[in-house]
Amino acid sequence: MARSSSTFVCQACGAVTSKWAGRCESCGGWNTITEEAAPNAGPPSRSAGKGRKLELVSLQTDEPEPPRILSGVTEFDRVLGGGLVPGSAILVGGDPGIGKSTILLQALAALARLGKKVIYVSGEEAAAQVRLRARRLGLADADVDLAMETSLKDILATLDSARPEAVVIDSIQTLWSDAIDSAPGTVSQVRAVAQNLVRFAKRRDCAIILVGHVTKDGQIAGPRVVEHLVDTVLYFEGERGHQFRILRAVKNRFGPTDEIGVFEMTDKGLAEVSNPSTLFLTDRDQWSSGAAVFAGVEGTRPLLVELQALASPTSYGTPRRAVIGWDTARLSMVLAVLETRCGLGIGGHDIYLNVAGGLKITEPAADLAAAGALISSVLGRSLPPDCVLFGEVALSGAIRPVGQAEGRLKEAAKLGFKRAICPPGAKADGLAITAVSTLGELVERIRNSDV
Ligand code: TYD
Ligand code: MG
Repeated sequence: MARSSSTFVCQACGAVTSKWAGRCESCGGWNTITEEAAPNAGPPSRSAGKGRKLELVSLQTDEPEPPRILSGVTEFDRVLGGGLVPGSAILVGGDPGIGKSTILLQALAALARLGKKVIYVSGEEAAAQVRLRARRLGLADADVDLAMETSLKDILATLDSARPEAVVIDSIQTLWSDAIDSAPGTVSQVRAVAQNLVRFAKRRDCAIILVGHVTKDGQIAGPRVVEHLVDTVLYFEGERGHQFRILRAVKNRFGPTDEIGVFEMTDKGLAEVSNPSTLFLTDRDQWSSGAAVFAGVEGTRPLLVELQALASPTSYGTPRRAVIGWDTARLSMVLAVLETRCGLGIGGHDIYLNVAGGLKITEPAADLAAAGALISSVLGRSLPPDCVLFGEVALSGAIRPVGQAEGRLKEAAKLGFKRAICPPGAKADGLAITAVSTLGELVERIRNSDV
């Protein structure tokens, strides 16, 4: 019997099945499975004979650390762990329109001004569009070579002869390889294209930056496939309505993860923000109940952000819980602890929690600040505007210490804050510290305006 030449691949998670189904068994997605031709370019078959014996090598090395190419866009370089590593492959993901093409054109232009040979390959936009953007950004004179192409074979041939040091591919979903029979943007195409480009990066010691669009459920199409292949995965985040953009490292073989770079979208492109704390704090004059300042840490940097909570009596049977910028599960946990351990009556309230400025917080250390904002809103008593909070809340209601307390407090003092509420054991110059060991203590202090 002839072997079937096509397989069925889930476009959301990459799972492969032998027959079509309405629902992917692997990720549960509906209507995500499409038929794709089985890749015909597998590894060359060497069925006969034994395998070749490999030469084993030692772990010791005299090799120097990989050299870095600094673009001079400091926030970008820092997120990468200190600049681009030659021969590395980087995936930059993000929503359409968030500013991926803009930041990468700016980074390439900065590299070109330092005398590096760089190429920008666009499969989405016409040369005129890219040139217009460059002019708007004031980069028209930078020596960036452009190519408008979607055929992988032609792109590789071009790169092979041009020998660039850094290349941007915008975007991976538009490219197609003629070795694969399916449409551009499908899992097998994206995988094949990424594999070939990564191989090129290693072979030619060229840094390759792949742009990947995110699907509506927050994942890059053909997602896990590309994330595994590259050395570094960066996400460009931000709310469309806000001008702040955050570049976040979620995987990095050459540096720390969770590092963020903060940018502001202006009419001249993305401007670096070197002191981001000032951005995520609203005007102190408009301070009200339900607001709390969280002394957070993103990557290696302390970052103060304002959390806003609103508790309003519910008009439906089931109260609403809505969160922007924080984890819904953590909110439920903090609410349960407040209700059960501290006797705060929240059950009949709709709860809204918002992180100012469009930032997404992932640290458990934000528990105490979120709790502070919630308590303040429920009791209708505001926290002092010159006070920061941090600490993790346990299910018992105990406040657990968190890392980098000193750095958090130092940043708060630097920005003119006068008080801090945190787990016991923290010390800082210039700040009055209120140590709380249980969440109940915080409720009492806010109730008695004793902070
Ligand atoms: P873009 O880089 O094209 O986004 P992506 O490649 O992620 O799809 O950015 C598009 C948005 O940025 C667009 O809505 C306009 C805005 N923008 C500015 O506000 N200022 C600028 O200088 C530029 C170039 C774009
Ligand atoms: Mg773009």
